[in-house]
Amino acid sequence: MGTLKLENLHVALEDGTEIVKGVDLEVGLNEVHAIMGPNGSGKSTLSYAIMGHPAYEITEGRILLDGEDITELPANERAERGLFLAFQYPHAIPGVTVTSFLRSAINSIRKARNGGVDDPIAIPEFRKTLLGEMDRLKVSRELASRYLNDGFSGGEKKRVEILQMAMLKPRIAVLDETDSGLDIDALRVVASGVRELVSPQMGALVITHYKRILDHIEPDRVHVFVDGKIVKSGGPELADELEVHGYEEYEEAAVA
Ligand SMILES: Nc1ncnc2c1ncn2[C@@H]1O[C@H](COP(=O)(O)OP(=O)(O)OP(=O)(O)O)[C@@H](O)[C@H]1O
Ligand SMILES: [Mg+2]
Repeated sequence: MGTLKLENLHVALEDGTEIVKGVDLEVGLNEVHAIMGPNGSGKSTLSYAIMGHPAYEITEGRILLDGEDITELPANERAERGLFLAFQYPHAIPGVTVTSFLRSAINSIRKARNGGVDDPIAIPEFRKTLLGEMDRLKVSRELASRYLNDGFSGGEKKRVEILQMAMLKPRIAVLDETDSGLDIDALRVVASGVRELVSPQMGALVITHYKRILDHIEPDRVHVFVDGKIVKSGGPELADELEVHGYEEYEEAAVA
């Protein structure tokens, strides 16, 4: 059964400009889908709309998660149902440490799953899981007590993002990857993190400009995204083809 399903999704900015122009996509558990496309084609807009960012209005179509229509749900309720979004440009949250952020995120998900009644994770259990995941993902322990993303290097942000994913165990993770400034290690952290976490309990949608990430992730499907639409879908070989030929043929077709 498909887990995240986009049906004829159209997304507009607050001024009414349509950016996403009819996307159909189904991402199942145990699957990695990659979206590649030129700058400004609407990939981040699509990911914000999936997550329920209030500045991006869904003007047509719908979003289903495990068969439930979540098109109108606020972002927190989408998260509670198992959607996770890693931003292309994550914000710092001064005053909130990585540890306290993770604990409150886990607790709000637990509360939602417990019929709205508080069910906080026991501190020793939380600490044990957190330290275990930090070691596994090679996140320095010093980061746990720092404010989220505040002064983090690009690579540290990536590691903490994958740590969030490992701790929150979403059904579907959407990762909007930065297109510059990541060293080989950070690329590997993302790629191996996604690969390890994708399972019969989780699927992922990875937006990237990097074929190098995809070499490590080995996506099941690759989608070419141009001018607000998926113009072609295929297997991992499609990423190789894009590396050689770029998006030109698709952009010409979109304008014609
Ligand atoms: N909040 C906003 N206000 C104004 N314009 C916006 C806003 N969000 C997106 N846009 C515009 O929508 C278009 C698509 O932007 P988007 O960030 O979705 O592209 P993208 O495919 O993610 O690009 P990139 O590959 O550079 O990350 C761009 O022209 C952008 O300027
Ligand atoms: Mg983007």
